[in-house]
Amino acid sequence: DHPLVIAVDGPAASGKGTIAKGLARHFGLPHLDTGKLYRAAALALLRHDGDPDSEFSAIRAAQDIAGLLDDPELKSETVGGIASRISAYPAVRAVLLERQRDFAAQESGAVLDGRDIGTVIAPHATAKLFVTASSEERARRRHAELVANGLPVHLADVLIDIRARDERDSHRSAAPLVQAEDALLLDTTALGPDDALAEAIRLVEGCL
Ligand code: C5P
Repeated sequence: DHPLVIAVDGPAASGKGTIAKGLARHFGLPHLDTGKLYRAAALALLRHDGDPDSEFSAIRAAQDIAGLLDDPELKSETVGGIASRISAYPAVRAVLLERQRDFAAQESGAVLDGRDIGTVIAPHATAKLFVTASSEERARRRHAELVANGLPVHLADVLIDIRARDERDSHRSAAPLVQAEDALLLDTTALGPDDALAEAIRLVEGCL
């Protein structure tokens, strides 16, 4: 009789966002892409000419994300890179914590995706998935996405960015990207979006 809460964590371009959206649709749950909050903070910082190396600037930006959550610029690699840098500040994470916890605690249940959902935001989630794929495959996907959006970049540069972001997200001391002990691993390297979602549904159903 507990509400169904699904935590989906994993590195950049692993497919976790698409899977989380598909799970939300399948189970009829609201969905929160928590990366968007960090990206909105990064965008607020850029718009205010803030300094990503200043914790004070980063905290101010995290307090000022209203109105930026649907901005098309959230998707850019520049914003993603700054999001990854400022998300290492525990005080920035603290500013964004409550709205994520509240979202996870809704009576309806919820699906959240990010880096620390199963470990920090919703440690009592009904089902926890850790979605991953090889860095080469993730770079290939992100590259195709950027090219499709009219942003020509070199695949090799995307791979370097992805590896740098993995390194930062996994080795920070505040809520690092790590598979929760009770999370189920879903490797999407060899799976298309439909097969990845089908497998995710199967894994969640096994937790009910
Ligand atoms: O998932 P996405 O690429 O949109 O996330 C952008 C950045 O925000 C990540 O690289 C990560 O550093 C940070 N993030 C986080 N915790 C989350 C979600 C995102 O630290 N729950």
